[in-house]
Amino acid sequence: MELSKKYADLLDKDDVLSSFRNKFIIPEKEGIQRTYFLGNSLGLQPKTTSNSIDYILHQWGNEGVESFFNGERPWMDLHDQLLGPLSQIAGAQKQEISVMGQLTINIHLMFVSFFRPEGKRHKMLVEAKAFPSDQYAFTSYLEHLGLNPADHLIEIQPQKENSAIQDEDIIAAIEKHADEIALVFIGGVNYYTGQLFDLERIAKAAKSAGAMIGYDLAHAIGNAELKLHEWGVDFACWCSYKYLNGGPGAVGAIFVHDNHLHNKQISRLNGWWGYKKEERFKMHKLFNPAPDATSWQLGTPSMILYACLKASLQIFEEAGWKAVLEKQAKIRSFLALSIKELKSPIFTCLTPDKRGCQVSLLFHEKGRQVYDRLFEQGFMVDWREPNVIRLAPVPLYNSFNDIWKFHHSMKEILASV
Ligand SMILES: Cc1ncc(COP(=O)(O)O)c(C=O)c1O
Repeated sequence: MELSKKYADLLDKDDVLSSFRNKFIIPEKEGIQRTYFLGNSLGLQPKTTSNSIDYILHQWGNEGVESFFNGERPWMDLHDQLLGPLSQIAGAQKQEISVMGQLTINIHLMFVSFFRPEGKRHKMLVEAKAFPSDQYAFTSYLEHLGLNPADHLIEIQPQKENSAIQDEDIIAAIEKHADEIALVFIGGVNYYTGQLFDLERIAKAAKSAGAMIGYDLAHAIGNAELKLHEWGVDFACWCSYKYLNGGPGAVGAIFVHDNHLHNKQISRLNGWWGYKKEERFKMHKLFNPAPDATSWQLGTPSMILYACLKASLQIFEEAGWKAVLEKQAKIRSFLALSIKELKSPIFTCLTPDKRGCQVSLLFHEKGRQVYDRLFEQGFMVDWREPNVIRLAPVPLYNSFNDIWKFHHSMKEILASV
């Protein structure tokens, strides 16, 4: 791989997914398309999303509540239509996925089922500097159980400040505290550093220790190859507005390993939408759960949000998940090269080689100026106080020329700030 405009052109020419960019609305500034590198934050809007929403509005308008059951595309079937592409992306069986709620809510629901402190086994092992909402969730959940987080939380720190956490350190801590850990809960890709953890090895270590293993996959779903079923992960949850392009506040999802779907020792909070689908409307007093992960659903889901996600998952299906991953690997290498060749002393790349699309650049000086200049020049990247620029070019709507342009502009900006 070489870093040149000619090579970027060649990569774009050979890119079997190049036409997929046209399926998205690319933000513009004064009529010129911006270069959008924020798949890690809010994925772009598929052009089909508005039609997908309109169809639900049309059904609602024409058929009212009948739309749940009647017509060509009854709302009751919408959830299951999301499972094909999602199960492929998550490496899961269809019955292990339930598309529901929002991520932070789902984290709490998963803790209810999978964090069951008992006897000596009463601790939760997590990564230091997890996404703030996860930190609020695990500390408040411990407090809700009457447990002091200072005594019941094991936080794995990076060896040096502002660096990635070593997988080995997580595994060593799991082994060290094997008798005390009830749950290991890690963000699959760290939101700040972009590090992709070795989810297979961590799951194996947690299971050998006799603990439950759960992942927050907000930054990993649609951004990394996952084999949740095969790895024996107990549960996972994610949001769909980043790499899955499901829209702002998109409906989230959970994965529950099929080992647990009929496990009477796993308890849940119940609601009528988790009732066995065929009998839900018989309105029985006693709860009869669905035989799959949808038993974790609580209330009526938004058909509009399902429709948004359906529009974007159809694009993944058309592209083929394997092709998305293949292009991602090339983007990753081209971006890594383009950053390395900047050879600038004013920033360090925080992200280790094991990562998805995201790269985080830690600025020792002038970071904000660089960010502002990038923005002026049409690049949409992300500024994290106090000194980090994150960027995540993605396979479905970014080109290799986008990365070349970024390199070219950064070179100019770094020379002039
Ligand atoms: C890793 C991670 N966890 C949790 C959240 C919170 O998600 P939500 O606001 O959808 O609950 C986010 C949001 O970006 C996130 O990145």
